[in-house]
Amino acid sequence: MDSKINRLDKLNALAKLGGGQERINRQHEKKKLTARERVDYFLDEGSFEEIGMLVTHRSNDFGMENEIYHGDGVVTGYGTVNGRLVYIYAQDFTVFGGSLSETHAEKICKVMDLAVKVGAPIIGLNDSGGARIQEGVNSLGGYANIFYRNVNTSGVVPQISAIMGPCAGGAVYSPAITDFTFMVENTSYMFVTGPNVVKTVTNEDVSSEDLGGAYTHASKSGVAHKISANDIECLNDVKKLLSYLPQNNTETTKKLKFKLNNEIREVLSDIIPENPNKPYDMHKVILGIIDEGSFFEIHKDFAENILVGFARLGGRSIGIVANQPMFLAGVLDVKSSKKAARFVRFCDSFNIPLLVLVDVPGFLPGTDQEWNGIIVHGSKLLYAFSEATVPRVTVITRKAYGGAYDVMNSKHIGADLNFAWPSAEIAVMGAKGAAEIIFKKEIIEAKDPEAKLAEKELEYGLKFSDPYIAAQRGFIDEVILPKDSRKKLIKAFAMLEDKAVIKPKRKHGNIPL
Ligand code: COA
Repeated sequence: MDSKINRLDKLNALAKLGGGQERINRQHEKKKLTARERVDYFLDEGSFEEIGMLVTHRSNDFGMENEIYHGDGVVTGYGTVNGRLVYIYAQDFTVFGGSLSETHAEKICKVMDLAVKVGAPIIGLNDSGGARIQEGVNSLGGYANIFYRNVNTSGVVPQISAIMGPCAGGAVYSPAITDFTFMVENTSYMFVTGPNVVKTVTNEDVSSEDLGGAYTHASKSGVAHKISANDIECLNDVKKLLSYLPQNNTETTKKLKFKLNNEIREVLSDIIPENPNKPYDMHKVILGIIDEGSFFEIHKDFAENILVGFARLGGRSIGIVANQPMFLAGVLDVKSSKKAARFVRFCDSFNIPLLVLVDVPGFLPGTDQEWNGIIVHGSKLLYAFSEATVPRVTVITRKAYGGAYDVMNSKHIGADLNFAWPSAEIAVMGAKGAAEIIFKKEIIEAKDPEAKLAEKELEYGLKFSDPYIAAQRGFIDEVILPKDSRKKLIKAFAMLEDKAVIKPKRKHGNIPL
């Protein structure tokens, strides 16, 4: 028996060494943790159970039969994060550059299947040179098996990708389908084709970092939802994200212990400037409403004219979508519509209630926007809100103009409760623009056109630039004082806790993609 145990010990030790100490050292020199170090750090101490540690590849080409590494370049299994079950896979760059073979893919598929059967999140730590070149189509088939599962798992359990090294070629499509992609600065990059191919095809000179580094994807493409300075911070961010999410689509997030006290927040009274054209930071409104220190912003550096993120309100996890007057006056454009729509969609998939804060002067005009399809992209947000059945509450802090009023979780598209602050202006457009159009003739013919414009602007403003017409019609349920917002919202979401919506049967809608 002893010799059999020795053999097992030896095999396990070999597997744990991955591609060997020299390659582990190289990984550390690049300021990267190894796959096993990442898993150990990420999961609660001692909770990791590995699955498939002794799996090896089946390739006999190019001398591969002589290069066997147990585990085949990916560490897979399950464990807990703050006591909650998660499934995990971590690609091991020390084994064939973490490249994906047929068996490597099978290991990933196995934990994905378990995650769906049991109903717990799946976390992928990506660090890979892409398809295992020696295996050809077997490896491509492996990728497709993962993509197919990513799609079918979407909306069933949360899927989170951390990119902690290269992720290139077809490999990028798995993270792209998952719910969130986090990247590590300076050590990770993602692109469909690398700088060399780019140079050959388009003659552009671009570095890996500029083409597909963390900051590029966090600010330009929006592929990355969050970036961090190193592996540890990235793993901490993923853990934090998990704390806002339920385990699967049949659960809601646990309500933390909370007692309604004096929830008046005076700080909210002084945020809106006297001058309606002066910007202010919507973060201040968010922080004034939510439980202290609980805002976890997503897509912070992308489409900054809209803010999205998770927070806690009265202990319960909520998703927040808010126009940001500090950037482009908070308009909706192609990028911000896509960013918010995807977030709304995620929250709705996983029963996370939505709070929407509105200060929107409309959609961004211009050829750039029209030619890039603002019509179709703007409608994504409209569609996402309209289809969402989670509790949905809106607060209009200032402007709610034109079609953007409708889109930003208005009563008309199914919001449950709509509040407005006294500073709210709900109108087709700003008073000046409106007066210029509907009183054009009168203004041109007036002795003093400027005075006439001012007079008509005031007239229009008095009629529409407040929340009371909307409140009279019931489009606004209550005009509330800013300082009461937190209290009102805690009570509103508590009241909506058992909301249930039954929709007519259909295969699925045809969301404008
Ligand atoms: N298939 C098989 N082995 C691979 C591989 C792949 N796709 N990508 C990397 N490797 C191996 C390398 O042969 C090397 O093996 P070794 O340790 O025995 O020397 C090891 O992984 C590390 O690769 P290396 O190139 O030394 O690392 P690097 O950090 O300098 O570069 C990459 C990393 C990913 C940029 C580079 O390896 C690369 O370009 N790989 C190919 C990417 C690709 O075209 N993939 C297929 C299309 S999806």
